Amino acid sequence: MEEITHYMEIKKKERNLLFYFLQKKGLDYSKSLFLSSYFDGFEPDSVLFSLLNREKISTLKDVERLLEVMIPESDRKLNGAFFTPSYIVDFIIREMAPGTDDRVIDLSCGCGAFLIGLLDYYKKTTPKTIREILRENVFGADILPYNVERAKALLAIYALQEGEVAEESNLNIRQADSLRTEWQEQFDHVIGNPPYVKFQDLSDENRAFLAGDWRTVKNGTFNLYFAFFELGFRLLKPGGKLGYITPNNYFTSLAGEPLRLFFQQEKCVSRIVDFNHRKVFDVQTYTAITFLKKSKQDVIQFDRIEDGQQPESFLITANGSLNHLAQLNPKKWRLLKSDEQENIRRIEAAGAPIGQVYDICVGIATLKDEVFFVDGASGQGDFYLKEYGGKTFPIEKEATRTVFKISDFKRQQELCGNTRRIIFPYQVKGKSASAIPEPEFSRMFPKCYAYFLTVREVLAQRDKGKTEFSPFYAWGRTQGLTRHGKKLLSPTFSQYPRFLLDEDEDAFFTNGYGLYFRESSLFQHALASVDRIEIAQKVLNSIVMDYYVSKTSVSIEGGYPCYQKNFIEKFALPDFTEQDVAFLRMTNNREEIDAFLIEKYQLTLPSHSFQTAPPI
Ligand SMILES: C[S@@+](CC[C@H](N)C(=O)[O-])C[C@H]1O[C@@H](n2cnc3c(N)ncnc32)[C@H](O)[C@@H]1O
Repeated sequence: MEEITHYMEIKKKERNLLFYFLQKKGLDYSKSLFLSSYFDGFEPDSVLFSLLNREKISTLKDVERLLEVMIPESDRKLNGAFFTPSYIVDFIIREMAPGTDDRVIDLSCGCGAFLIGLLDYYKKTTPKTIREILRENVFGADILPYNVERAKALLAIYALQEGEVAEESNLNIRQADSLRTEWQEQFDHVIGNPPYVKFQDLSDENRAFLAGDWRTVKNGTFNLYFAFFELGFRLLKPGGKLGYITPNNYFTSLAGEPLRLFFQQEKCVSRIVDFNHRKVFDVQTYTAITFLKKSKQDVIQFDRIEDGQQPESFLITANGSLNHLAQLNPKKWRLLKSDEQENIRRIEAAGAPIGQVYDICVGIATLKDEVFFVDGASGQGDFYLKEYGGKTFPIEKEATRTVFKISDFKRQQELCGNTRRIIFPYQVKGKSASAIPEPEFSRMFPKCYAYFLTVREVLAQRDKGKTEFSPFYAWGRTQGLTRHGKKLLSPTFSQYPRFLLDEDEDAFFTNGYGLYFRESSLFQHALASVDRIEIAQKVLNSIVMDYYVSKTSVSIEGGYPCYQKNFIEKFALPDFTEQDVAFLRMTNNREEIDAFLIEKYQLTLPSHSFQTAPPI
C-alpha cells in the first residue's frame, strides 16, 4: 500500500512538472491525443507549482533531469537507474554521427535523455520533421512502465515545441526487458547508459537466466551492463556502432574477464574515453565511455582524463592513443596513452623485475585477528595481558611472536614502535610448520590454552563455520607460517608507494604484501643481495613506482592505487652500477633520488601531475 501511495505521489509530481513546463512555454497540448489522455483528469497543485518556480526549468532537458531524480530508491538499485548528463549524451551521439536514414536505439532509455539528444542532433543535421525523425531514427526501450510513459510524453512535448503533433503511433518506444526480448531487427547504432546492477543485487531467477544466455556473464559475479554490451553488439548491423557510458571497472575486475574476452574475440572496441576516478554522476561509480564497431578493430583509441581536469572540458579535447588489441591481456586490460606506453615499457625493460628479485607474498591470515593479536606493551613478568570480551587473560609471552599490521604504519620510524604480537600456536621445523596439538599446547602454555577455550565458539565461526580447524585454535590459513627474513612491507592500497623495511626476520605481517629477498646464487643484479634491500626500498618508494602504479594499476575511491603482486611484479630494478649503488646508499633526499631515477630509467614524466609524497 505504502508503495502505491508513493507511486501516486511521484506520478502526481511528474504530471505537475510536465504541465508546468507546457504552461511556461505556452504550448497547447489539446491537439495531441496522447498528451490529452496523459493529462486526463489532472488538477494542477499550487504548492508544487510554487516549488517548481524555484527550479531552473527552461528546456526539456531540465524536465528530463528532474524526472530522472523522481525515481523510487528501490528502482534505482534494482534497475540501475541513473541519469546521464547531457554533455555526455551529446558527446556519444556526435562521435557516432548517425546518418539521415540510420536507426538508433537506446535499449535502457529511462526517461529519454539519449532520445532527446538524438532529436536535437537530427534537427540540426537533417531537414527532416520531428515526426519523421521519431518514426525513422529514434528507438527506445525500458523495463519500467513509468519510464516508458515519461519518455513518450517528453518526445511528444518536444514535437509540440517544434509546432508538430506526435502521437503514440509515431513513437518507437517500447516497454520491455531488453535482455529477454526476441529482437527481430538490427540497428545502425546503439547508444545509452545501461543499468549497472551488481550480481548480488539481482534476483535468483534473473541471475540464472542471465548466466544461461550471455557469454559475458559466465563468472559467479558479473554486472548487468556486461549483458547490455553483448546485446547491443548483437543488435548492430554490420558496420554499425555502439556508444555506452558504463563503469570502467570492466578494464581490470575479475568479474569483467568474460566481457574482456568477448571484446577481444569480437575485436569490436574502437574507442574508450576514461574518466578514471573522477565522478561524472551523483553515484559512487567510476565511468568510461566505450565505443564498439561491428567490424574488426585491431586497435583501441584510448584517452584518460587528467587529474584536476573537468569532465566536460576533457571531452572537448579528448583524442586517442592507440592500444593494440593483441597486446592486451584478457586477465587485466592495461590501457595507456602513448607517452605512458613508452615510459612503462622503459620501466619494465630497465633491468630485473622485482618479482624476480623478491618473493612478493601476502601476509598471514588467522581469520580472527582480534582473538590472536596481543598487545606486547601489556607485559607482566612472563605474561602479556589479553583483553577480550571485557575480560583480561594472561598469555605466555613464549606463545607469541611479533606481527606487523601494515595499515598501522605510515612511516618507517613508526615501525620501530610496534608492540603488536600474535599468538602463534605452531612448531616450526625448517620449512614446515605444524599446529601444536592440544595436549602439548595445554602443557606448554596453560594460560593461553585456557584463554583459547573461552573463545572456542568465536573461532569456530571462522569461514562462516564451514571449515573445521584442527586444533580449534589453528590459524585460518597456513600461508606464510615459515617465512623468514628481512622484508619490505607494502599496504594493498596506498596513495603513494609505501614500502617499509622490517628487519625483524621472525616477524609476521598482515594487511598487505611483503617482499622477501630471493636467495638465488644464479642471479646477477646489483641489488641481488639482502644487504641492499634498503636501496631497493628507495627505488620502490620513488616517483617512478608512483607513476608506474598510478598508470597501470586499479584505484579505489579517492585515488588509492592497488599494490597487489600482479600489479607491481613487472616493475624493474635498473641495472645499477656500483657507483649508482653508492650514490643511492648515501642519499636520503627524495627529490635527488627521483631525479636520478628518472634519468636512469630514461623517462619523460609530466612534472605537473605529481605531488610530492610525504616522507617515509
Ligand atoms: C542507468 S539508467 C539510464 C537512464 C537513461 N538512459 C539515462 O541515460 O539517463 C538505466 C535504465 O535501464 C533500465 N533497465 C534496467 N533493466 C532493464 C532491462 N532488463 N531492460 C530494459 N531496461 C532496463 C532502468 O529502468 C533504467 O531506466
